[in-house]
Amino acid sequence: MSIKSELKSTFTSYWKYMALRSACILNIFDEIQNGNNSIEKLMLKINASKIPLETLLSFLIENKTIIENNKKFFLLEKGKFLTKNHPETLKESCILWGGEHLNAWQNLTFTIQKNKPAFENIFKNSFFDFIKNDNEKLYNYQYAMAEYARDDYKNITDIIDFSKFDKIADIGGSKGVLIKNIAKKFPKKNCILLDLPEVTNLIKKKPNNLKIISKSFFEDFNFKVDAIILSRVLHDWNDEKAEIIIQNCIKALNYDGRIFIIEIMNDEIKANLLSINMMLMTESYERTFEEYNLLLEKFNFKIKLNLKLNKLQTILIYKKNEI
Ligand SMILES: C[S@@+](CC[C@H](N)C(=O)[O-])C[C@H]1O[C@@H](n2cnc3c(N)ncnc32)[C@H](O)[C@@H]1O
Repeated sequence: MSIKSELKSTFTSYWKYMALRSACILNIFDEIQNGNNSIEKLMLKINASKIPLETLLSFLIENKTIIENNKKFFLLEKGKFLTKNHPETLKESCILWGGEHLNAWQNLTFTIQKNKPAFENIFKNSFFDFIKNDNEKLYNYQYAMAEYARDDYKNITDIIDFSKFDKIADIGGSKGVLIKNIAKKFPKKNCILLDLPEVTNLIKKKPNNLKIISKSFFEDFNFKVDAIILSRVLHDWNDEKAEIIIQNCIKALNYDGRIFIIEIMNDEIKANLLSINMMLMTESYERTFEEYNLLLEKFNFKIKLNLKLNKLQTILIYKKNEI
């Protein structure tokens, strides 16, 4: 592809994603799976007009998410991932990024010029307070996070030997995908998940050795543990707020405890677009390994180990620096 052609296709690259997202919002993949797979049945089920629906379906065929046979539509492997019931569904993740995130991206010039989150300028609220007041958006965000967590944390217990710790807490653990993996692998260990009440309310099932604490990580946790996990939490906050969270974690650590930070290291991975996304949504960005170390060194915590969790994320393990 020539440089000019590449540029031109970049300008409209969001069309493909927005078409897939609309198909998800309209439940087209689920309806096809349920046997409502003719144009007539789909029109009825999703209240669609014929020509736009036919055009969207033609794109989905072109995009290899569905195929057509004898005027009936069938899911291909890619389309199956966009159904709600697939064990590895990506439906909520597909819906997430084209909502308020996209509104914020449309206002990137504001963030670049003012160094403030465009999201807060548009919605006059912080992202977490905004979704708190909207059940559909809260559900979408937290289920999307759980879809990423399901893939990203599936090997966590192969990489970290949690058997050394009697009590383990996951702070800002969302629906608990990560800590449930640990609790199930180590049924004798006491595990804790802390997140906001509106988030912990979404948790339907949990292992017996997992306790749920519904509160803000800006308050005193009121428990003591041997290991604390902060996964994809600090990247949501500026240094000032991140330091309060870290301080509360340290207060909750028993003697010789460990803090596990799981994040993308902006010096290892080219995370510039992700970093811009964080700046747009919150007052933060993707930090480098050195920046995490500096944050923890303020509390006399030193890096002990640095492990790769997957292609994107790194696990940083910190311990108090005893003299
Ligand atoms: C980016 S998500 C990460 C979730 C999970 N740790 C993961 O890695 O998938 C950030 C989490 O922080 C939680 N959170 C935001 N503000 C919080 C607060 N003040 N107290 C506790 N949790 C909070 C959110 O509800 C969300 O679950």
